[in-house]
Amino acid sequence: MTGLASFPTARPRRLRRTSALRELVAETRLSVNDLVAPFFVREGIDEPQPIVSLPGVFQHTVTSLVTEVGELIELGVKAVILFGVPAVKDAIGSGAFDPDGIVQVALRALRAEYGDQIVLMADLCVDEYTDHGHCGVLDDHGDVDNDKTLEIYVKAAIAQADAGAHVVAPSGMMDGQVAAIRAGLDAHGRTEVSILAYSAKYASGLYGPFRDAVDVQIVGGGDRKGYQQDWRNAREALVEVEADIAQGADMVMVKPALSYLDIIVAVRELTDLPVAAYHVSGEYAMIKAAAANGWIDHDIVALEQLTAIKRAGADVILTYFTRWFAERAASLPAGAS
Ligand code: PBG
Repeated sequence: MTGLASFPTARPRRLRRTSALRELVAETRLSVNDLVAPFFVREGIDEPQPIVSLPGVFQHTVTSLVTEVGELIELGVKAVILFGVPAVKDAIGSGAFDPDGIVQVALRALRAEYGDQIVLMADLCVDEYTDHGHCGVLDDHGDVDNDKTLEIYVKAAIAQADAGAHVVAPSGMMDGQVAAIRAGLDAHGRTEVSILAYSAKYASGLYGPFRDAVDVQIVGGGDRKGYQQDWRNAREALVEVEADIAQGADMVMVKPALSYLDIIVAVRELTDLPVAAYHVSGEYAMIKAAAANGWIDHDIVALEQLTAIKRAGADVILTYFTRWFAERAASLPAGAS
């Protein structure tokens, strides 16, 4: 008798013997319903432009965006989030709240075409629209002025809601942004529009390809450490999430995802609201680059990473892999549904 045989119940390999058994007992099932596709829409271009550091992702025209979103609806995708690339940037990021700003134009076109068939989310920030690249307006010392920025965010939220956004997603990490936006939307009669708060957003090195996608360079080689979170801190994320919930957030987000799975677990424990996680541009680009070199298997690693994010507790995952997943899910090895 071996030691193991004397513990007949301790044989978890029994349930791994066949693919059907593994499917039966799988704890986490990733679905296309969980995913949100990020899109970039650029003003003043005639053809979609590829983004070198995000293979397979484009800066869209409004027309190409409408076509692509229609294809995603056919594939069963339930939500998209829009980012704008304006033709002209200025000090306060006017394009973010101009009713004719590129995201507002795109939202109107999508809502007119598809109504409520897909959830339209709008990233709510000004970094794509400011000439200095920060997520807010600057004071005389060149620091981001929190409360002046809130006034701009409220205007942007109203412009996005009026253009047809179902969900606005403030990503600038200003204090009090959710309360200000909720009050502004409600006063404007837009009580039905939800807020997906980028609550725990870290000052990550993984946003590099995104900044190529939206043509953002922070003035003077600066960074966002004055408003995004320090990656050494975990408890601080819960302070942020609690504040956003108290201010009226309908969903809370952790961003990036993979380096912050511990934060996703903690946020999942803290709240019964839907928890979102953003598998960001750098996370996508790392898989693409390593797979292009033949160093990892693209499909397996992408599926493994997205599943890990869900396993940690995310209900909603924003990912540039959404279309790939929707197209390939049925033929993927395991864990997909
Ligand atoms: C800010 C914003 C950023 C991302 C989403 N919203 C960039 C930043 O904070 O610098 C990054 C998303 C990604 O890397 O995929 N508007």
